[in-house]
Amino acid sequence: MKLLSILATVRESGNSALASRYIAQELDASLEILRLTDLDIEPCKACYACLFGEDCKIDDDVDRVYDRIGETDMVLIASPIYWLDATGSFKALLDRQFMAVPHLEEFSGKKSAIITSHGFKNLRGWASSTHLVFARSLQLNVLANMEINAGLPGEILTERENIEKLDKIVEAFKNGEKVRSENQCPVCLNTTFRVESGIRCPVCGSELDDDLNLVEKGERLERDWVNEHFFTRLVEMKEDYGDKIDEIKKSVDEILNN
Ligand SMILES: Cc1cc2nc3c(=O)[nH]c(=O)nc-3n(C[C@H](O)[C@H](O)[C@H](O)COP(=O)(O)O)c2cc1C
Repeated sequence: MKLLSILATVRESGNSALASRYIAQELDASLEILRLTDLDIEPCKACYACLFGEDCKIDDDVDRVYDRIGETDMVLIASPIYWLDATGSFKALLDRQFMAVPHLEEFSGKKSAIITSHGFKNLRGWASSTHLVFARSLQLNVLANMEINAGLPGEILTERENIEKLDKIVEAFKNGEKVRSENQCPVCLNTTFRVESGIRCPVCGSELDDDLNLVEKGERLERDWVNEHFFTRLVEMKEDYGDKIDEIKKSVDEILNN
């Protein structure tokens, strides 16, 4: 069994790397660490060529990430919080995620889990939601989404509470059953919420009551939603822009007095 761990931190023996080694050891799986900070991942050009079936115009390492995901049995996203969010190299990859669309059939249902390590419990921000968007948009089957407090490198393995969380991930990988932690979305395991005439999960779009029980299930980032959003709405928007480009330019020029 192969476990691919996607890390977006330069620390070679940091908490994300150590947690990955522990989980692989407990699963008796071979571990491959893919460190995004070692890869060349350029900004998206927002040309939408990939949504029209063309190859990406950028020649960098994004395809390498998808090749590695395609070849593994299980995916672990183990990455820290920087400034309340995912790290820059993680977000750089997520920004290029339209390129994953041709791989979604292959990735669909692959077992995965998320570990978001952080130094301070009251500074967790929304990084684990960003990690979850990555996993869901690839159609991975997210079995656990754990935020783990570990400020100093190594602390992810020295605290009992942390080992218990890592063991839950190991069990989830073994039995394929989802682990919902306290205060997580019952549908997608997200950790942060919006208040919009009730509580809404910004990742899957589910409507929840005050106790986070499901009121109406959302389908955002599920397969049918991805097909409809990427291949219908975005493609139509791009085509619409082609029809309206002269009119828009004229209006912009008038407003900016060009
Ligand atoms: C630039 C930087 C920003 C950070 N921002 C946060 C933060 O906003 N909230 C927090 O709880 N921890 C923050 N941390 C702490 C890391 O999330 C924590 O040390 C984590 O365990 C590092 O994981 P790693 O060892 O796998 O790199 C930050 C660390 C760095 C270096």
